[in-house]
Amino acid sequence: MFYPEELVEEVRMKNDIVDVVSGYVKLQKKGSSFWGLCPFHNEKSPSFSVSGDRQMYHCFGCGAGGNVFTFLMNYENFTFPEAIRALAERAGVQLPEAELSEEARKKAGRRARLLEVNKEAAKYFYFHLRSPHGETGQKYLKKRELSDETIHRFGLGYAGKSGADLVEYLRQKGFEDDLIKEAGLANFSEKRGLLSQFWNRVMFPIQDINHRVIGFGGRVMGDGEPKYLNSPETPVFDKRRNLYGLNFARTARAGNMILCEGYMDVIALHQAGFTQAVASLGTAFTAEQANLLHRYTESVLLAYDSDGAGVKAALRGIGILREAGITGKVINMRPYKDPDEFIKNLGREAFKERIDNAENSFFFEIRILEEQYDQSDPEAKTRFHREIAKKLCEFTEDVERENYLQAVADKYHIGFENLRKLVLAYASQTGFARPVERPRSGVQQRSNPEENAKKAQRLLITWITDEPPIFPKICKYISVEDFTEELYRKVAKRLFADLEQGNYNPAGIISMFEDEEEQREAASLFNTNLPRMDNVKEREKALHDILFSVKKNSYEYYTAKLGNDVNALKQVIDGKKALEELAKTHISLDAG
Ligand code: GTP
Ligand code: MN
Repeated sequence: MFYPEELVEEVRMKNDIVDVVSGYVKLQKKGSSFWGLCPFHNEKSPSFSVSGDRQMYHCFGCGAGGNVFTFLMNYENFTFPEAIRALAERAGVQLPEAELSEEARKKAGRRARLLEVNKEAAKYFYFHLRSPHGETGQKYLKKRELSDETIHRFGLGYAGKSGADLVEYLRQKGFEDDLIKEAGLANFSEKRGLLSQFWNRVMFPIQDINHRVIGFGGRVMGDGEPKYLNSPETPVFDKRRNLYGLNFARTARAGNMILCEGYMDVIALHQAGFTQAVASLGTAFTAEQANLLHRYTESVLLAYDSDGAGVKAALRGIGILREAGITGKVINMRPYKDPDEFIKNLGREAFKERIDNAENSFFFEIRILEEQYDQSDPEAKTRFHREIAKKLCEFTEDVERENYLQAVADKYHIGFENLRKLVLAYASQTGFARPVERPRSGVQQRSNPEENAKKAQRLLITWITDEPPIFPKICKYISVEDFTEELYRKVAKRLFADLEQGNYNPAGIISMFEDEEEQREAASLFNTNLPRMDNVKEREKALHDILFSVKKNSYEYYTAKLGNDVNALKQVIDGKKALEELAKTHISLDAG
């Protein structure tokens, strides 16, 4: 634990989950809960519920769930301590200096040092650009038509011609060689010692969403290889999970985000007023980056290069965006190569027009497809139509598919009914695409015995927390050890202890776990879908079945451990007795 448990609880209780979530998701009260569209997956009807009584949220669509901390960790990409700090501030709770474990302190310390050395290096480059040695850099940036304000805003700098200066500067600031190397700022050679990695380049500091410098891109001035030299991955520089420009773009509120290929494109767009532009970090666009964007927008406009490679990258990007539940559109950059050149030549108004006329990603895909088929050859044309049908099958919703069918039939002058027949023929072989199911612990319905055993344990915990009065009626049959999953056992242990003392606090139990994945799993224990039961008799039978199933699994689990585990024998003997008793016992759920 980073902070004492009582403090974590205080912070949690002072931040009502309905209040906090309302800041991000539009919620509507229905029954005892609030409902809205889940921010963690794409959906059109609300399956995301927030309960004020329980101080928890749960999505019945994707399985996301947890307490107010989990929500911020997922939504804002915060770590557990970051979520605590944010909410403490929100509620005006004073936090002590964090008490970290030795290992955590080392790790956090290393990360902090890497960020410090990056920041110091960024300063060095920044001032170097403004010194007499920086003239070449200045000239280059001016030639690229960047204003002083833009250069300042993006913290651009210049790495000079002497590879030793930066290292010397950083050493003077108290950074060890090891750290300078680990940050990817310098390389060691036997002959010449530690020398800067960047040499005679204009420098683009890469910042995370909190404006911390996590790495650098350096552009050669003029021709030279490589054109851009990027920092290597480091503990603070994760190229899959950050986007250039997102620190500004996240607050642009333009209703969309513009995804480009290059740093210069981002900067040119921001300078022209399109502050919603971001770019990936010298590597291909990733699913992680798409999910990151999804936190801020439903709609991404691709402003990729207009050449063959750009089109290919756009097609790939569209797929990744779609998987993340984002609608993609493609901005036509022709006759220019990229946004930077476009803006330089045609200006911001023209670009705004291109934004408004951005092509729907489906039509973009079809148009690219069209180019591959000779439209004057009937046979090729038929194959083209078949490909269209195949693409139409990818729509998961009937209405959407029908709409596109109509639109594409109109646009390409294909008979609507004919195209429809093709679609149905194709679907009869392969079926229509299903909504993307995201792997999330605790929601998959697998029919393997282990998963069934876990499910019964989850059902039991959910039931007990939904209806605490059943606990005294069943506690004689069930023990903490019957929860054979380690995480479940931890939860049960705490829950049972709480219940025995007359407390009831599932939202608090979730914060026992620091790891996000564990929090999610713990939350799922309180949010399993209980079977529908119409009357007391059915309920009694269901509860009996669940108890029996948990007990039976536990018995088998410990039987398998006999001989290796000293506690197993007791569990087996007790388990057998409980099972026999359960078999002939009726548990009454009548009130009283
Ligand atoms: P300018 O020529 O400065 O306008 O660059 P650009 O923004 O048009 O970039 P380009 O389309 O050439 O490349 C897009 C992005 O790919 C850059 O911003 C870099 O992140 C990355 N990139 C380009 N060249 C290289 C290279 O040689 N090595 C690496 N690792 N990345 C590169
Ligand atoms: Mn360019």
